[in-house]
Amino acid sequence: MSHFRADIRQRAEELVALYPRQRSAMLPLLHLAQEQDGYLSDEGIAEVAALTGTTPADVRGTASFYDMFHLEPVGRYVVGVCTNVACLLAGGEELLEHASSTLGCAVGATSDDGLFTLEETECLADCNLAPCVQVNHRYVRTTTPATFDAMVSDLREGRLDHDVPRHGTLIRVKRQGGLRVSKDDIAAERAEALAARTARAEAAAAAAAAQENK
Ligand code: FES
Repeated sequence: MSHFRADIRQRAEELVALYPRQRSAMLPLLHLAQEQDGYLSDEGIAEVAALTGTTPADVRGTASFYDMFHLEPVGRYVVGVCTNVACLLAGGEELLEHASSTLGCAVGATSDDGLFTLEETECLADCNLAPCVQVNHRYVRTTTPATFDAMVSDLREGRLDHDVPRHGTLIRVKRQGGLRVSKDDIAAERAEALAARTARAEAAAAAAAAQENK
């Protein structure tokens, strides 16, 4: 019997069919497993292994390489506070400390009510709005203790349910069907991109030469 819900199982089988080799579908299937359970349960891992023709050890080994996959249960909301350089300079460590106090859990732990897991992260690629905070991989743009607390209150009250779905949900728009772009179209786009790059390089070289001759 499948551990996946019927709709998840159907999407999983459709995903496997997109790839020439079953095991190539492992990462998208792991996201599906996490979408259902909120983390990668033993049952979810076993099902991904069966669908990809691999073993649970293979699946676990792959999943453990990626930060976005959780091998232990996490809260409904995984809160990540960046303390990398730009955020560190903008008060990231202080905000992380404040988050720990507001959420009532240590970094790496889950709050007693099971709602929040707090993580310290590396650069989240939003340095211009440092310090950066993500919840379930969505940017929430709370850069001060006051806005952080307001955001937590909104999450508790469900006011952000639309913007921040439960942990594991990646997208809400489901892809319909398989790859539809022809190889000819891909080749044409690549040729166009190469021509544009060459033209830019030539223009830059001409500008540099003109500058030298002044
Ligand atoms: S250093 Fe924090 S988002 Fe880049």
